[in-house]
Amino acid sequence: MTTVVLERTSVPTADAMRDLGVTLSGLLTAGDVVVLDGDLGAGKTTLTQGIARGLGVTDAVTSPTFVIARAHAVAGDRPALVHVDAYRLGSGVELDDLDLDADLDRSVVVVEWGTGFGERLATSVLAVRIERADTETDEVRWVSAVGHGPRWVAGR
Ligand SMILES: Nc1ncnc2c1ncn2[C@@H]1O[C@H](COP(=O)(O)OP(=O)(O)OP(=O)(O)O)[C@@H](O)[C@H]1O
Ligand SMILES: [Mg+2]
Repeated sequence: MTTVVLERTSVPTADAMRDLGVTLSGLLTAGDVVVLDGDLGAGKTTLTQGIARGLGVTDAVTSPTFVIARAHAVAGDRPALVHVDAYRLGSGVELDDLDLDADLDRSVVVVEWGTGFGERLATSVLAVRIERADTETDEVRWVSAVGHGPRWVAGR
């Protein structure tokens, strides 16, 4: 069960990546898991900053590389953001093992390097792929998103 949520789109700047994150956040609801796939420096954290802004997170979203996961509360009844960097997580680690101070059913969980890990968290995931242009100096990124599982079946 896969659904194309975002056709491959060019994203010319970091600000445009954040704007795309805001747009994507409009599709997200509590309990959703988003996995971000892309090379070092592709823009995974930058996209997460936009998702955070769209969800109403007010504190700064930075790379969680050294903490593995960080929970960002949102005022009111809106879902919190749980931002995970799975880069150094070994296979077999579950999110429960991280002992996060957040209720995942009431959060949107975004996992950088999440392919493989995110799928173990939920039956449905939104898989976002960020690709760099061929030349290092080119700032353009290409982003596509595919929903896996019943949550993302069109028309639901
Ligand atoms: N079009 C673009 N989209 C996103 N980021 C861009 C773009 N152009 C330039 N950048 C810059 O590229 C860098 C992307 O860094 P970011 O930390 O978001 O990547 P990452 O995928 O999270 O890296 P890591 O693998 O280390 O976690 C930032 O410095 C950002 O400003
Ligand atoms: Mg990052």
